[in-house]
Amino acid sequence: MPLVTSKDLLLAALEGHFAIGAFNANNMEQVQGIVDAAVEEKAPVILQVSQGAIRYAGLDTAAALVKIAAAEANVPVVLHLDHGTDVEQNVRCLRAGFTSLMFDGSKKTYEENVATTAKVAQIAHWCNIPVEAELGKVLQSTDGVTEKDVQAAMTNPDQAQDFITRTGCDSLAIAVGSVHAMQQAAAKLDIARIKAIREKVSIPFVLHGSSGVAEESEVEAIPYGITKINVATMLNVAFAEGLRKAMAELPDNVDPRKWLGYSRDAVKEVVRHKIRLFGSSGTVTSSGGLVSPKTVHRAAHLGGAEE
Ligand code: G3H
Ligand code: ZN
Repeated sequence: MPLVTSKDLLLAALEGHFAIGAFNANNMEQVQGIVDAAVEEKAPVILQVSQGAIRYAGLDTAAALVKIAAAEANVPVVLHLDHGTDVEQNVRCLRAGFTSLMFDGSKKTYEENVATTAKVAQIAHWCNIPVEAELGKVLQSTDGVTEKDVQAAMTNPDQAQDFITRTGCDSLAIAVGSVHAMQQAAAKLDIARIKAIREKVSIPFVLHGSSGVAEESEVEAIPYGITKINVATMLNVAFAEGLRKAMAELPDNVDPRKWLGYSRDAVKEVVRHKIRLFGSSGTVTSSGGLVSPKTVHRAAHLGGAEE
């Protein structure tokens, strides 16, 4: 299928009380592992290109990998810019065919964040492409953050309505207890804060830094409108473990495909697990559309979505 935008998928997820996995990919094996899992699980999927991936693979190469994988898949695939740095980079991604954008103004002042997000949203909307913004700040574990830092960086529910109205963003990344790049899934989300933000605004929410969040906490947050869950570190860990296993089992091998096949399979199984956990498994019909949100919602209570 051709790429789709994230707009309708996230609104359907909001209505159906499930979340769509947004998986970061840095290379061909990760792209294939992610898309193969989504196809087998009949789930929509978002592939994200991070700033690190742009530096590593190049913007056009990263985009091309996702486009080709999407064209061969019979489930909706979104090509998303993760943590976009400025207006110019977002415009470059529009020109490269991205179907979902992000401007991350979390390190800027509130007014600067509003002004730049609004500009990105205006330009993207001229092209019918949705924009994710960030309010509050999801910190980086590599910066040595404390619990106090995490608390201080959380999204202020009282700013949310003003931010959405003035920026026109389509989805909102909220800081509610997760921290980027953690290798242990130990953090608990501030569910009361998510509820409080949900009472102020109705657009889909995005969870960043999910690799460090306890799975029961992720699941608890979904009914309050967490509709896009970003997964990166966990996939890198799976990729590395697959590679280590391959090198141990095939010490004399010199064919990279034999090693990287282990990594691709390892990534695929983590993505499959997350898709099932988020409730998006089985939400794509045989024609490639989404089942009605009400059907998913009902089925989720029975232990799994159905066509
Ligand atoms: O933007 C990407 C994510 O927020 C991923 O976070 O590496 O902690 O899974 P993670
Ligand atoms: Zn993130």
